[in-house]
Amino acid sequence: MNRKNIDIIILTQAYSAESVPTSGKTELDLGCGKGTFSCALARLHPDRLIMASDVMIGRLRKLKKKAERENLANLAILRSESRFLAGILLPDSSIDRIHILCPDPWPKDKHESKRLICSEFIGSLSRILKTGGTFHFSTDDSRYFNSVCGEMEKSGLFHKDNSLIEDIAEIETDFEKNWKREGRIVQHSAWGKL
Ligand SMILES: C[S@@+](CC[C@H](N)C(=O)[O-])C[C@H]1O[C@@H](n2cnc3c(N)ncnc32)[C@H](O)[C@@H]1O
Repeated sequence: MNRKNIDIIILTQAYSAESVPTSGKTELDLGCGKGTFSCALARLHPDRLIMASDVMIGRLRKLKKKAERENLANLAILRSESRFLAGILLPDSSIDRIHILCPDPWPKDKHESKRLICSEFIGSLSRILKTGGTFHFSTDDSRYFNSVCGEMEKSGLFHKDNSLIEDIAEIETDFEKNWKREGRIVQHSAWGKL
């Protein structure tokens, strides 16, 4: 079997619209870390493009090795900051499902502003999702979970529907596995774009 080389794309300018297929489905794992979840998703849905993005190059290099070993030709690895990627780089209405799984929780009150998911970012998610597209979120931090559920409801842009992630209910991310081993509960929720 020929091993496919998978490049890490360092995104510094708008991602060319032609690089995101207009036919077929595209999923985006924002803050993918070492990408165990992205690889499982690529295996589960070989007909979909799975985009895995993170800022940490070391984690992406590990993902690259894993994806090449498994010949996951439908996986694109992007090095990019999530706010920049969702806010500016990706074309409008280009993604079918976005996953933000176990993001840094910034649990202290004084660090709340550092959390990725806030009303402005929800607007960016809505911009890049196709109509009917899905946003999937998980965290072990119950305050972050409740705050995201509240912001999603307040936005008026989404409706809650956990059936949108039934196909991936069994897949756990690296952080989720670690946290569950420590006895923590990881909550998931999904919303469809109106
Ligand atoms: C707690 S880890 C979770 C990784 C993976 N989703 C998982 O559940 O195993 C958070 C990841 O988000 C990445 N990250 C944090 N802030 C980011 C940002 N602003 N843009 C892109 N990636 C970010 C970190 O580098 C890290 O890999």
